[in-house]
Amino acid sequence: MTYDNLLTHTEEGVCTITINRPSKLNALNRKTISELHKAFKEANEDAACKVIIVTGTGEKAFVAGADISEFADFSVSQGEQLAAEGQAKLFDFVAHLETPVIAAVNGFALGGGLELAMAAHFRVASDNAKMGLPETSLGVIPGYGGTQRLPQLVGKGRAFEMIMTAQMVDATQALQYGLVNHVVAQEELLDFTVALAKKIMKNSSVAIAAAIEAVNAGFEDGENGYEEEITQFGKCFGTADFQEGTQAFLEKRKANFPGQ
Ligand code: COA
Repeated sequence: MTYDNLLTHTEEGVCTITINRPSKLNALNRKTISELHKAFKEANEDAACKVIIVTGTGEKAFVAGADISEFADFSVSQGEQLAAEGQAKLFDFVAHLETPVIAAVNGFALGGGLELAMAAHFRVASDNAKMGLPETSLGVIPGYGGTQRLPQLVGKGRAFEMIMTAQMVDATQALQYGLVNHVVAQEELLDFTVALAKKIMKNSSVAIAAAIEAVNAGFEDGENGYEEEITQFGKCFGTADFQEGTQAFLEKRKANFPGQ
């Protein structure tokens, strides 16, 4: 499928979704959110796609936030609807995909941009990246999961400081905070992220999907992560991947997972 505000490319099991609205620093307008939903859904359903990388066009921005021009005159109910729809369509949707998602943060990741990066399963940043949730400087709060995912990743005190001051952290500080897993030179960002994706692809995709469910369950209201882990652990025993993985180990050879 082709998109107005995205570029997509699949090669050797890695599907890269690039947000492509450089004149607006890749800000997430309604159309881009809708296209992202379709692109993530399509990649998740594509058997040839084992890992998804999300990044932004250009050297300046991953995503500079939700598109402020679209909601500046919204009412209370429209504001609530904006957050609810965005969370369902994109941010929660990404966090719960079966296919692993890595955010390659290539510059500014602000507001909805950082929220998108945080919805990914983990993050790699370029050394020029700057991250923040500046919403309180606009008189609003993060609405795409930021008040929940930032404290989960960096701890409550650091999250409060970032949200209350509306200040950005640079890549080094983000690394110290555990907000990103790695920081690399900008020109190495995609190659480095693809190399990580290839390490993931060697493992069982069904086991990875089960791990995503189990880890996420610990962060969901009303769910018990330990119970979900037991369920998912048990399910793995009924998969062809488990048969292959254990057989390959016993036969001292590399596993060739069927992905089932
Ligand atoms: N929504 C809508 N448009 C945005 C945007 C956003 N979140 N972020 C950047 N843009 C647009 C700018 O309006 C500008 O468009 P224009 O050329 O038509 O005027 C263009 O992108 C370039 O941005 P500009 O501000 O000129 O770049 P800069 O290098 O001076 O500053 C930032 C970069 C990221 C510091 C600045 O753009 C910014 O603060 N953006 C908003 C960040 C934010 O508050 N995000 C949270 C939203 S909830």
